[in-house]
Amino acid sequence: MSKQPAAKPSKSSKSIRTTALAGITDRKTLRANARKSIEDGAVTPTYSANRTAVIKLLNDALATEWVCVLRYYRHYYMAKGMLADAVKAEFLEHAQQEQAHAALLAERIVQLGGEPDLNPDTLTARAHAEYKEGGNLRDMVRENLIAERIAIDSYREMINFVGDKDTTTKRILEQILAQEEDHADDFADMLEGWIGE
Ligand SMILES: [Fe+2]
Ligand SMILES: [Fe+2]
Repeated sequence: MSKQPAAKPSKSSKSIRTTALAGITDRKTLRANARKSIEDGAVTPTYSANRTAVIKLLNDALATEWVCVLRYYRHYYMAKGMLADAVKAEFLEHAQQEQAHAALLAERIVQLGGEPDLNPDTLTARAHAEYKEGGNLRDMVRENLIAERIAIDSYREMINFVGDKDTTTKRILEQILAQEEDHADDFADMLEGWIGE
């Protein structure tokens, strides 16, 4: 077996290790920055979004999610009629998923140094979507579709507002938006093939 000479490090890999890269902070500064205002927790000096505005938007979304949780539970308990069983299952699943969205938002608010506003006295006034009881099963489905469409538009706007200044919040909002679109789609499908009242 012939011995292969050890590969020499190429000039380019050496330059990556030793030359400062645009937008990348050197280790010493990075360490020094992390020691400043440690009481801010996950919020470091490089956080460039408007934190107060982001927390306010997240709290509005949190209110919306809770109003949706309550509306879905109301519909779940009140659903009657031939199609009730299938539709009830959907209402319950959505109620649980909206509650999971609320948890994601509340956790992010706290991470950003804010406080989740869960005051029931002001919940409906702060929410985007409405608490509509609906007269019959079809009405309920219709109201939920409308509420989901409101949520979709408001999440899309929030994502655009946050942009790349807070990618963690953006990712959470995108994840929720995808599920709201799924919810709206479920109800649109139901209404399309609806028979009877
Ligand atoms: Fe939701
Ligand atoms: Fe939803």
